[in-house]
Amino acid sequence: MKPKNLRDLVTFVPNKAEPIHNWLYFKEGFSRGLVEWAVREFQLQEPICDPFCGVGTTLLAAKQMGMQSIGFDVSPLAVLASEVKTRNYDPRAIETTLKAFHKMQPREVGKFQNKKIRRLFHAKQLDDIYFFYKKVQEIEDAKTRNLFLLALIDTTGRVANVVKVGGSLRKQKKPCFPVKKLFLGKVKKMMLDLQNTQLPNVESQVFEADARITKLGKDSVGSVITSPPYLNKIEYTKVYKMELGLFFQVQETKLRAYIADEATGKDRETEIPLIAKAYFDDMHRVLQNVFHYLKPGGKAVIVVGGGCFPYETVESDDILLREAEKVGFKKIDKIVARHVQCMRNRTIKVGTVRESILLLEKPEER
Ligand SMILES: C[S@@+](CC[C@H](N)C(=O)[O-])C[C@H]1O[C@@H](n2cnc3c(N)ncnc32)[C@H](O)[C@@H]1O
Repeated sequence: MKPKNLRDLVTFVPNKAEPIHNWLYFKEGFSRGLVEWAVREFQLQEPICDPFCGVGTTLLAAKQMGMQSIGFDVSPLAVLASEVKTRNYDPRAIETTLKAFHKMQPREVGKFQNKKIRRLFHAKQLDDIYFFYKKVQEIEDAKTRNLFLLALIDTTGRVANVVKVGGSLRKQKKPCFPVKKLFLGKVKKMMLDLQNTQLPNVESQVFEADARITKLGKDSVGSVITSPPYLNKIEYTKVYKMELGLFFQVQETKLRAYIADEATGKDRETEIPLIAKAYFDDMHRVLQNVFHYLKPGGKAVIVVGGGCFPYETVESDDILLREAEKVGFKKIDKIVARHVQCMRNRTIKVGTVRESILLLEKPEER
């Protein structure tokens, strides 16, 4: 049955109040509740795979239900967040490292190279972030090191003089918040979350990969729950360029292997904008791969959104269902979760698009 709050469940908002899920805010994510509902409602089998795992909502929710999972994403930031959220920890190791960090007095030990990004911070704050970044790199235990790195990345986002608005960063001057206090406070909160949450012992498999070319073993996955980038072309490299540039040395152009690269004009036959056509071609390849690694009888639950263009809208759910059928999937259902308004220049309404959940099944072999 369709839950009453499905329109919220397809967003990251409910995760803001969920321990561990809320370790890194990710506007483009969906919620733990959506994964739990889908697993129950469609009797999904493990291992659950998410080929666009983002900050690991599917993977952590699977872990919380004691289920095996596999996730990948092209963004090293997403992979780090997914990994950190789904590891089993010894909280004492974190506590010892935290005590050592409390004793440190940040001082200037060098600078991040990227001058454009440096402009987004108060100079002293960025020096402190750099100091702690170097110290984090010295932590021997990889799990503890990654957890501290994620806390530092979250802190960096909070102190930077920018806010993420839609698909871009907007400058916004903030007070000069104390980096050390915020950073170590974040680690403490993460430690308490781990202490207060009973988690099954399973760990997810997480790695960096492109869903368009990644084929896992044939028939190796019990089910898929995922949400690809939406057609409205949120450019993840732009929104996260600060984190990617500072901590992963990723230049803006290096990650242009995202779904649908630039394309202008219209397709002569279908009249859909070429950028949309490129998107559906990419998604066709993704669906082919999913079909390959899903077990016969396995289900795929895919959350998709339509695209807003300056003078038109393009619904993607029906087109993706057609592509899925071409690949061999059986269409089981399309559940509309909500309608989203499309605006031009933030003031002129262009139309609305659907955000929908597609339910597909790989037919049993005869
Ligand atoms: C809508 S978000 C998924 C959010 C996820 N459900 C969550 O709750 O965190 C889409 C993700 O796809 C990733 N992505 C974009 N292009 C990709 C590609 N070609 N292969 C794999 N991941 C990709 C982005 O980095 C982003 O993390």
